Amino acid sequence: MESLNSLKRTLNTNANRKDRDRHEYHFTPDKFRFLFKTSSSSSAKTGAESEREGKVRIDLTDKSLASRIPPDMSVLQNYTKYTVEEFLHKAAEEFEEKWKTPGPHNAQITDFTVIKNLGEGSFGLVKLVEHKQTKEFYAMKTLIKAKVVKMKQVEHTLNEKKVLQCIGFPFIVELKYHFMDHANLYMVMDFINGGEMFYHLQKFKKFSESQAKFYAAQIVLCFEYLHMLDLVYRDLKPENLLIDNTGYVKMTDFGFAKRIKGRTWTLCGTPEYLAPEVIMAKGYGKAVDWWAVGVLIYEMVSGRSPFYAEQPLQIYEKIVAGKVKFPNFMGEDCKDIVKNILQVDLTRRFGNLKNGVHDIKNHKWFQSVDWNAVFHKKITPPFKPEVSHPGDARHFQPFESEIARDEGKAKPGDDQYDKYFVDF
Ligand SMILES: Nc1ncnc2c1ncn2[C@@H]1O[C@H](COP(=O)(O)OP(=O)(O)OP(=O)(O)O)[C@@H](O)[C@H]1O
Ligand SMILES: [Mg+2]
Repeated sequence: MESLNSLKRTLNTNANRKDRDRHEYHFTPDKFRFLFKTSSSSSAKTGAESEREGKVRIDLTDKSLASRIPPDMSVLQNYTKYTVEEFLHKAAEEFEEKWKTPGPHNAQITDFTVIKNLGEGSFGLVKLVEHKQTKEFYAMKTLIKAKVVKMKQVEHTLNEKKVLQCIGFPFIVELKYHFMDHANLYMVMDFINGGEMFYHLQKFKKFSESQAKFYAAQIVLCFEYLHMLDLVYRDLKPENLLIDNTGYVKMTDFGFAKRIKGRTWTLCGTPEYLAPEVIMAKGYGKAVDWWAVGVLIYEMVSGRSPFYAEQPLQIYEKIVAGKVKFPNFMGEDCKDIVKNILQVDLTRRFGNLKNGVHDIKNHKWFQSVDWNAVFHKKITPPFKPEVSHPGDARHFQPFESEIARDEGKAKPGDDQYDKYFVDF
């Protein structure tokens, strides 16, 4: 608590999500870490130290030899043939193979025509693009190398690309192409045209419990899959969940995803969704994703976050205290699952106990859910976003962007950053 008080005096980031001020929204780990170090005897490791741990180096010579699994043979292409359990088993083997030999760059910027800006990330824009030859639409995430280096996010960015490249799940976006030039890194994903869950949640104000349950079930399956692969996601929030044209979810933004065995220390995430152990900087594991599921269920059903406050430090205090007030309209089963997930004490948190994900999947709130039917997309979705064609971006609001100015063609001297991205 002493460290929180000292942070309160010094750290002053705006966390008002209603303003969607994305850049202010990710808190500054360096400052946070510095303060924790000086104000308490916290054993938090520096980002650089912790990120180095467990890093798997890719031998560049392997790239040309990369044994790619033909797309039509992949487990994902055939997922409807398998139960969740069978899929997980097969997917693990496929993932390990790809992890050993991630594929090489497979496109270039001139292959695409830019149509419109979809979203602004911390290091660049996400744009709707059309592939000139195939006429397919994609979402192209651009990261400006200079910004990534200056904000000390090289490791996270390499993780993002490598993780996205190796995974495949029905409720996660697919990385189709990746490449770079001297100025930028590019990740081209399938374009999910139904818009962010955040946008729909603002429009609906809140979701019915059955609608929230439908989305939550897909997220639970995503984490069952990711955690089986030792991947922690660390950035669950409605902004990073897209709704596709069938009404199902696609998780995007693997900017904080990382392969970990055991614990990690990097302070990252989004204030309202941070687990207490991340704030306390004592090392944390995959259970942070389950915590975030609790926050998400609460936010979907009530329309606001359980730890909302004007300032991030007030948010952190509420999270660490772990007290949640429930609105009257929330059903008993829903309250119960949220309570069991939002446990500060890790030995009590659902998802993190000896039965793992099954405590969540078998909870009363999910009793009506047929997990294989969700997985196979056999459930009629609560709503389908209206779209008229694959490139219809009506659910993405136009916005002014500062960052667009910094992006573009390589400027003299830009190649100074190339050395950091050899593994991209
Ligand atoms: N595959 C996609 N299809 C459609 N829109 C997408 C896709 N991927 C990302 N977006 C849009 O772009 C936004 C920013 O992308 P993303 O979250 O990956 O960037 P980021 O830099 O990590 O952002 P932040 O720092 O705010 O978390 C998303 O919130 C979403 O609106
Ligand atoms: Mg994001």
